[in-house]
Amino acid sequence: MAAVTWALGPLGEVAIVTLLLALLLGWLWDTAVTVTRFRATCHQLRRFPRPPWRSWLLGHTGLGKSTEEGLQHVDELVAQYRHSCLWWISPWMPILRLFHPDTLRPILLASAFIAPKDQLFYGFLKPWLGDGLLLSCGQKWARHRRLLTPAFHWDVLKSYVGAFNHSTHVMHAKWRAAAQAAGGQVGLEVLEQLSLLTLDTLQKCIFSHESHCQDFTAAVVQRRRQALNRLGRQAWLEDHRGQSMDFLDLLLLAKDEDGNTLSDEDIAAEADTFMFEGHDTTASGLAWLLYNLACHPHYQEQCRQEVRELLKGRDAEEIKWEDLSHLPFTTMCIKESLRLHPPVTAVSRRCTRDIALHDGRVIPKGIMCLMSIYGTHHNPDIWPEPQVYNPLRFSPENSKGRSPLAFIPFSAGPRNCIGQRFAMAELKVVAALTVARFAIKLDAGRPPRRKPELILRTEDGLWLLLEPLPEVA
Ligand code: HEM
Repeated sequence: MAAVTWALGPLGEVAIVTLLLALLLGWLWDTAVTVTRFRATCHQLRRFPRPPWRSWLLGHTGLGKSTEEGLQHVDELVAQYRHSCLWWISPWMPILRLFHPDTLRPILLASAFIAPKDQLFYGFLKPWLGDGLLLSCGQKWARHRRLLTPAFHWDVLKSYVGAFNHSTHVMHAKWRAAAQAAGGQVGLEVLEQLSLLTLDTLQKCIFSHESHCQDFTAAVVQRRRQALNRLGRQAWLEDHRGQSMDFLDLLLLAKDEDGNTLSDEDIAAEADTFMFEGHDTTASGLAWLLYNLACHPHYQEQCRQEVRELLKGRDAEEIKWEDLSHLPFTTMCIKESLRLHPPVTAVSRRCTRDIALHDGRVIPKGIMCLMSIYGTHHNPDIWPEPQVYNPLRFSPENSKGRSPLAFIPFSAGPRNCIGQRFAMAELKVVAALTVARFAIKLDAGRPPRRKPELILRTEDGLWLLLEPLPEVA
């Protein structure tokens, strides 16, 4: 420094001191602004209850666990605070945990630009999923959501029911063979079994006949694009007349209002996102449904009677698209299972502006909100005796007057699950065929311990006993 000031002379010395002073003042100003803003934020956050913490320095670090005990702790928080509570990850990082429809509403229903997804929560998925619908934001997300929505229209989903039936037949044939070999009934880890099933159906619905491996989605897209370019759009459509298109076809043909299509990279990211979002989520939903039906044999029997009545007199044991709306009790059992064991237990958002709540409190700009799906589904204000599995909660009479945000396994608002109809259709087909063909029993030696990761799983798998039932003529 001395050499520099000597070289610049007395004027240079003044310039350097002025520069350093300016930098220092700038830094002091920024710090003062940040501290003032943070104090204002803390002032607003003081209106939210804070559960006991470890210390002002550690906050609640380490108190929220991805274990059975962690979920029980959420039950306690919800039972005590009912709407929301404030959680400190560190002395400078607060999170609002929300678990009541009234507190969730302004954020879940806000525009995706006002309450976008939080990067901290989702960022680590980026290298894996690319910029697909789940992770993208801003104009890109809005454009893709518009382009992709028609791919989940009822008319398209209809054509996938055959794949759901087929994959279920294959899985059941294996279960039957295993049970026969075991002398009557077989103990199976159903999360893994159903994970293979949902992977299989997704492969069929996204890539239909083409062989696919997760690493090579881009290659499949490229091959399909070349075929489309070779034939031309019109000839391609004529070629497919009368046939059902898979998701990949629909994405390749999708055009926005200006006639622009999705790039190959975009299509690959969306296909990978569907594989990721649609696979383990649906498997978790199915596995917990079978578990809940095993815990409650009388509800299981009621579903079985409903399905058998539906299939009576048919040549093939096949669930058709039209049947899906004629399984009211089975649907109630599915919904109650998604309430008690939601496959996705929480989603997160960051507020880009102050958001007012119904009771006058304000969620300050910049705050991360953890929207607890599990907590909302276990809130005694909305669900009396929340730990009890009772499908009748979803009967039309009992559902009257309940907030639509009380039951949110697929989230809600602009960033809700685009695949929810697909998932519900698959859940109904697999559940109906399974109860019709198997008695599902608990494996008393292996009670599951829940493990809420990205998806609600179990520590050592979900083991159930399956006993094939005699076929009904
Ligand atoms: C039982 C099964 C399923 C459950 C419980 C479920 C749940 C959810 C939830 C809670 C979200 C919101 C995530 C967030 O806000 O961070 C979501 C988003 C999404 N889901 Fe599902 N999902 C299921 C099945 C599926 C299926 C089968 C597909 C596709 C084939 C799918 C595709 C997506 C996509 C692309 C998004 C992102 C939507 C957006 O941000 O615009 N999901 N899902």
